[in-house]
Amino acid sequence: MNKKIRKILLKKNKSKIVSLTAYSSSVAKILDKFLDIVLVGDSMANVLYGHKNTHKITLKNIVEHTLSVKKGIKKSLLVVDMPKGSYNNIKSAKKNAKFLMYETACDAVKIESNKKNFEIIKKLVKSNIPVMGHIGYTPQFKKKFRIEGQTIIEEKKLLKEAMLIEEAGAFSIVLECLSPKAAKLITNQLKIPTIGIGSSMFCDGQILVTDDMLGLSGFYPKFVKKYANLNRIIEKAVKKYTRDVKLKKFPSSNNYLNGTKLRK
Ligand code: KIV
Repeated sequence: MNKKIRKILLKKNKSKIVSLTAYSSSVAKILDKFLDIVLVGDSMANVLYGHKNTHKITLKNIVEHTLSVKKGIKKSLLVVDMPKGSYNNIKSAKKNAKFLMYETACDAVKIESNKKNFEIIKKLVKSNIPVMGHIGYTPQFKKKFRIEGQTIIEEKKLLKEAMLIEEAGAFSIVLECLSPKAAKLITNQLKIPTIGIGSSMFCDGQILVTDDMLGLSGFYPKFVKKYANLNRIIEKAVKKYTRDVKLKKFPSSNNYLNGTKLRK
């Protein structure tokens, strides 16, 4: 088993697993200093490409961003989202997951559950492709952004789904927008670690979309804690730059290229 995955598994019931998304090497390089898992999420569709949902992201988009992210990663586990349509059946799932692993040298792929694709996970794991599952709000398959697991029936259904994903061989599972009670139940029942997003502190780890927690994306549901307001910082910097150019304060003689030195 991949050493990094073993390390993640050993954290269950011991210490929290910390993860965020990245789409570029510059961000990945910062995240890698602190995190256990970096996810190249198909949330890049909304965050980077300005799409309404994640559906149009292609395997090529994912490969290109993962190659960039990989350059910034030394120690974290690199997990990559399989885009919508790339795992419709066992044959295409195997072909595309192998392609992703081979092209990017990532550590694992993430697959959203549609409550039917357990056999696909099983076959990928059998082919030595580590899989992270994803239940609850799964943007590739669900339109409605809502809290799941608020009734006992829903809780049980989610638990069953999570258990089938574990049985299929996934090494970990994302719980997105689950009620705290459902997240606690699933986390207690499963042997593999649960990674929550909008699913309370009862999960074994947490993930957020980096651009959301940095205040850059403009998407701030209740479960997102904004740790910075990069929008405001960038706005201020751009305003200052605009003023400097107009007032001929930039470039100043400090920025002229005299002699042979190109860098400071
Ligand atoms: O695409 C993504 O960023 C994700 C996380 C929200 C878990 O799937």
